[in-house]
Amino acid sequence: MRLTRYFLPVLKENPAEAQIVSHRLMLRAGMIKQASAGIYSWLPLGFKVLRKIENIVHEEQMRAGHIPMLMPTLQSADLWRESGRYDDYGEEMLRITDRHGRDMLYGPTNEELITDIFRAHVSSYRDLPLTLYHIQWKFRDEIRPRFGVMRGREFLMKDGYNFDLTKEDALHAYNRHLVSYLRTYERMGLQAIPMRADSGPIGGDDTHEFLVLAETGESEVFYDSAVTDIQLGEREIDYDDVDQCRAVMEEFTALYARTDETHDEAKFNEIPEERRRSARGIEVGQIFYFGTKYSAAMGATVQGPDGKPVEVHMGSHGIGVSRLLGAIIEASHDDNGIIWPEGVTPFHAGIVNLKQGDAEADAACEAIYAAMTAVGLEPLYDDREERAGAKFATMDLIGLPWRITVGPRGLKNGVVELTSRRTGENEELPPEEAVQRLAAIYEGHMVRGI
Ligand SMILES: Nc1ncnc2c1ncn2[C@@H]1O[C@H](COP(=O)(O)OP(=O)(O)OP(=O)(O)O)[C@@H](O)[C@H]1O
Ligand SMILES: [Mg+2]
Repeated sequence: MRLTRYFLPVLKENPAEAQIVSHRLMLRAGMIKQASAGIYSWLPLGFKVLRKIENIVHEEQMRAGHIPMLMPTLQSADLWRESGRYDDYGEEMLRITDRHGRDMLYGPTNEELITDIFRAHVSSYRDLPLTLYHIQWKFRDEIRPRFGVMRGREFLMKDGYNFDLTKEDALHAYNRHLVSYLRTYERMGLQAIPMRADSGPIGGDDTHEFLVLAETGESEVFYDSAVTDIQLGEREIDYDDVDQCRAVMEEFTALYARTDETHDEAKFNEIPEERRRSARGIEVGQIFYFGTKYSAAMGATVQGPDGKPVEVHMGSHGIGVSRLLGAIIEASHDDNGIIWPEGVTPFHAGIVNLKQGDAEADAACEAIYAAMTAVGLEPLYDDREERAGAKFATMDLIGLPWRITVGPRGLKNGVVELTSRRTGENEELPPEEAVQRLAAIYEGHMVRGI
């Protein structure tokens, strides 16, 4: 992409309405524009990151054996009456009446709809286990939408639902989700700590929330500082291996880590004092096992091995896809702007031409652009007639992790500059080597974009 042909409406001034850094930077970097309270348009740069995050979620869900699909945003109230949640859900549910006077709603979550699909099509234990998921817009009429995409009214969520014959199988599904979520967040450059949580209106027995530590987080959390040392890293996971998934779950949940709703002061005080932490966190996901709550209410049964009907054991598992953009920025920025982790960056590197119109500099930039594209990397070429300072400021603001700076002086010596946004370190090297270096950096971090 060439900046002169792109749509990147960056703001010079700090928008007054933004209270936290991620909201401010998303507005300033031209990623989103508020359409109405808690509802946003995703401008091209924001949309690009959103799609990458979505694609990481898809890749990791499919790796875990979960099956993608798509359910609608609008749902019939009748299904929610069956589960009893139409009245329970309260003011957060956006209720709509169609021209025939039928009660509809904009889905805040999808347990009812998926259970309805399941009961219509699955009748034998032989079709289990089954985990279906989708990534779809949700609507919750939050009292106080705020912090940009962090607490929107319309927001993008991955929600997945497991159907199992026994509690034991459903707990394996729970563990599979926990492990796949850990991998998902790590690929986005985030540490999200599973914390024991309260089940809330969805209702359940076992539930963990995934929290990214950040001062601006809305959740109060308490944890043993040793949990922050645990990482999934490169280890191979066999998602069919029940023991391995359970072992990973146990490893990540053995130490004390809880949100305020389940916080237990006595247990907390058993942790050595120097490791006790209380902090704030951003909830970027949650997993639930809730047994037969919906299958019982909605008659989702299968024929068991003995021919008798069995109510299936279910769980639901969500990732806050659009909230993740805010969480990543809260965790990764500096005074000059965003610093995207390689896994989610909208473009792999920026090309800054210090002397636009100079035949040699222009040709070198074009060659780098072509070479990057040839190895599957996506550059953003700042080809505007602007001063170097303004070009650097834009690149820093939008946060591409790498920048290649091209100018007549360097070209005389056959070199360009490769700069890391994170460390600010600079290296001079021939243009082909800069591209090779980028290709090596991004190996293993290539995510399908848009
Ligand atoms: N209003 C929102 N805006 C953006 N993301 C949200 C919002 N509500 C929930 N999410 C995301 O969707 C995920 C799954 O939804 P879940 O039902 O667990 O939300 P929740 O627990 O009600 O969230 P919260 O406690 O933050 O209101 C959450 O972990 C969060 O990351
Ligand atoms: Mg939650």
